[in-house]
Amino acid sequence: MIPPKPPARQGRGSVWRFIRDFRRDILSAQSDKLYRAWMAEFRGPFIHSFTCNDPALVDMILRERPMDFPKSPRMAAGLQPLLGNSSFISNGETWLHQRRIIDPAFEGGRLREAFPAMWEAALAGTARLQPLADGAEIDIEPQTSHIAADVIFRTLFSIPIEDEIAVQVFQAFREHQEAQPMVNLGGLMALPRWARLHTRRVRETARRIRGLIRQLVSVRAAQIRAGTAPQDLATKIMTTPDPQTGDLFTEAEMIDEVATFFLAGHETGASALAWALYLLAENPDWQDRLAEEARLNLAADFAATRNLPLARAVFREALRLYPPVAMTVRQCRQAETLRDRKAPRGAQLVLSPWHLHRHERLWVNPDGFDPSRWETENGKTCLRRAFIPFSAGARACPGAGFAMVEGPLILAALVRAYRLEPGRERLVPIMRLTLRGKDGIRLRLLPRG
Ligand code: HEM
Repeated sequence: MIPPKPPARQGRGSVWRFIRDFRRDILSAQSDKLYRAWMAEFRGPFIHSFTCNDPALVDMILRERPMDFPKSPRMAAGLQPLLGNSSFISNGETWLHQRRIIDPAFEGGRLREAFPAMWEAALAGTARLQPLADGAEIDIEPQTSHIAADVIFRTLFSIPIEDEIAVQVFQAFREHQEAQPMVNLGGLMALPRWARLHTRRVRETARRIRGLIRQLVSVRAAQIRAGTAPQDLATKIMTTPDPQTGDLFTEAEMIDEVATFFLAGHETGASALAWALYLLAENPDWQDRLAEEARLNLAADFAATRNLPLARAVFREALRLYPPVAMTVRQCRQAETLRDRKAPRGAQLVLSPWHLHRHERLWVNPDGFDPSRWETENGKTCLRRAFIPFSAGARACPGAGFAMVEGPLILAALVRAYRLEPGRERLVPIMRLTLRGKDGIRLRLLPRG
């Protein structure tokens, strides 16, 4: 069975219809030609954009000349109340400084140290699902969201999601998202400035979340001063000086980054896990093979994650078919020639993992679920040239390595414990903050005997 894809716009249609559809759902507003085209130009009343599907063009923008294609202010506009001026939305020297401090915290050795916290979160999440594993249909998204948020709090601040502040952040974050349902992590809101003003509820929920994070950060700063801080990601980040300037993050800078880790780390992980579980529910043969791998090899040991190749292949295939950040946008700092077209200064460049990962001229069986593809020549080539769920180049996700340990681990833990069956309705993917099911991702869970 081919996993669901949102309906695509056929033919050209009017600009106004595009804008109307775009506001409803960014994915289904796109033309079906993007599954075959290398590039598409779009001119609307507020935007001149180029969707870039040619791997050479994607390479130029992300890997070769990232400083010439900064993140667009449209992205900052949607996320700024919560993220301040964090690495997710900043550009230039500020961004370089932030990445010089953050990146060491996510290096391989650090992941090994973060592993026990991930393991605890995987076990706790598996146990939390037990009362729901009675064959009744449930929406799995809130559950994967809960697990992914737990991973972030445990690895960052050594506290579980049940902690009083952690749970308040999690709840306030839900409200924040409800208050601005159209904002997405890729910053694709092509709206005029007046339509992007934040409501009082957006500002209020963002202020509440940042206030809670401020408490966590200042307690941690005091522990660091007293020499009693746990050795987790927060301590690492707060004690790592910028190797060029020697500056540490101020508490204000750290609040921006923690808000970002929470948002970028848990929303994406939750989306990827939910889609992976859904794909396994639809493919019982792969599910049984993964359950067997987990039964034999899942262990509370970082080195043992190497023995979960199938969990990794399934998770990677889920990231291909359902990339949590399905599209993102950059801006031309100066006039450019893109393939044979002139792009003016300020033109928006849309990078679309969604289309690149299903491009009919690049992938064999682009819409099919096939975790074994990664062993094939085509799969290996596309992995290098046409697979960007974490973006690529200098601005790629610093949490990619973290996510590729966390995701397969939790997937294996859940499938070892439960058999997954699909819900009754066919899913419709839709772009919210990350890629979600229009009516959730509905599955049935049963204990695996
Ligand atoms: C499956 C999980 C994840 C996916 C699919 C994912 C995807 C991405 C993507 C596509 C970007 C680039 C966005 C853009 O260019 O517009 C990004 C950036 C970022 N991600 Fe992740 N991410 C994941 C997990 C994480 C985790 C676990 C963390 C941290 C705990 C994290 C932290 C960040 C940060 C700080 C950035 C901004 C980097 C920059 O702009 O320099 N992400 N992520």
